[in-house]
Amino acid sequence: MKKRIAVLPGDGIGPEVIKQAKKVLDVIAQKYNHIFQYDFALVGAIAIDKTGNPLPSETIELCKKSDAVLFGAIGDLKYDNDPKAKVRPEQGLLRLRKSLGLYANIRPVQLFPSLIERSPLKENHIIDTDLIVYRELTGGIYFGEKGRSEDGRLAFDNCSYSVNEIKRVAVMAFEAATRRKKKLTLIDKANVLETSRLWRETIQVISTDYPDVEIEYLYVDNAAMQIIQRPNQFDVILTDNLFGDIISDEASVITGSIGLLPSASIGKKTSLFEPIHGSYPQAAGKDIANPIATILSAAMLLESFKMYQEASAIRVAVNRSIEQGLVTPDINPSSHVTCSRVGDIISLLIESNTPKEINFENMFEGSLPVI
Ligand code: IPM
Ligand code: MG
Repeated sequence: MKKRIAVLPGDGIGPEVIKQAKKVLDVIAQKYNHIFQYDFALVGAIAIDKTGNPLPSETIELCKKSDAVLFGAIGDLKYDNDPKAKVRPEQGLLRLRKSLGLYANIRPVQLFPSLIERSPLKENHIIDTDLIVYRELTGGIYFGEKGRSEDGRLAFDNCSYSVNEIKRVAVMAFEAATRRKKKLTLIDKANVLETSRLWRETIQVISTDYPDVEIEYLYVDNAAMQIIQRPNQFDVILTDNLFGDIISDEASVITGSIGLLPSASIGKKTSLFEPIHGSYPQAAGKDIANPIATILSAAMLLESFKMYQEASAIRVAVNRSIEQGLVTPDINPSSHVTCSRVGDIISLLIESNTPKEINFENMFEGSLPVI
């Protein structure tokens, strides 16, 4: 199969983790006889530096004509430290989500059994955690009218949702629940927010089409607590743009590192795949970032092409490399390998039909990064 993949490495560790994911995709292409054409484009702070625009029109055009987008990360300290900056890297990603109509952001949170002791949470609290967050991605407070009063001493960000915006992501979440453990938790703040009450009303109507799915409603403050206390009670979580952003970062703690969690953003046509972590500028250029979230995002990308066997080959290789302890310092500060070494190992595991012959001991050699 021939596919065009738009690659947007972005800022900070973005280019490093993208490089590893591309390495893995190259091995998949070779092994399974596919042709992946990669077209690179600018987004984020690097795009501002080079063009003055965090999302140049060539980038949007390229994404629109591609079969999928692989995205690294965006954000840069110089903007984080300057709240007055008018042009910001994040605008690049937000505009891209809007222009591609990516209204559903899917973030699976699964435990790697060999990493259970790496989680800061107690094993008996997290065992069997397997949840998936459906976050609305093109509405809510992120995209509402925002501004300042004339004297600049008052600011506002509006949050609004239409029934249709809620419905289209909710239907995806209900469909996912029917394929999974048939439980859907709507996370909102319906005791305070009108938009949350519209979410509840809309979900109640849709639920009549899904009589097998058990529905639970949780206020976001309570949910934030329960996700840490008893994450294994959740199956599908459905929530709005802002709550989904916060809850999914929180949920990543369960697995031991945010560097492990991939995501897919689905919408009208071209889908986008990105790790849920940020650009981690402090680590940029040091070859210490964890590429697994991006590599697993590439696996989700392959699933969107219906290349299930290929995606599964990536997951198996990722699991094996983690089981062997070949991980970056976020997972094991006292024994680790570099970001590029993790990419090499996963590629080698995919290439090799006889993984037993691989000498894992050698893989640690000469690879300890300088932090
Ligand atoms: C995410 C990120 C983005 C968001 C930022 C970079 C704009 O945190 O994808 O979760 O808030 O959506
Ligand atoms: Mg986030």
